[in-house]
Amino acid sequence: MYVCVCNGVTDKDIQREVDAGCDTLSDLTMNTGLGANCGSCVTLAETLIEGMRMKAAKRDLDVPVLGGEVPMHFFAHDQHAAA
Ligand code: FES
Repeated sequence: MYVCVCNGVTDKDIQREVDAGCDTLSDLTMNTGLGANCGSCVTLAETLIEGMRMKAAKRDLDVPVLGGEVPMHFFAHDQHAAA
């Protein structure tokens, strides 16, 4: 999807920039031209950048669990509550 029509910047372009470490709107503007003309794309771009950053942070915090399921003993709080 085009986010910045003036400069032909898509959400995929923004994702690529965020994945490469770009985390400010001014960096994004420097690298892609987004927002450098009419500026009507800036609010959407900021929202997308924040969402992409949060998604990346969540991905970094996820702990892989063998077998894809969390063993029940991980929920020690529930065991104490039932006792
Ligand atoms: S739509 Fe991005 S500068 Fe105009």
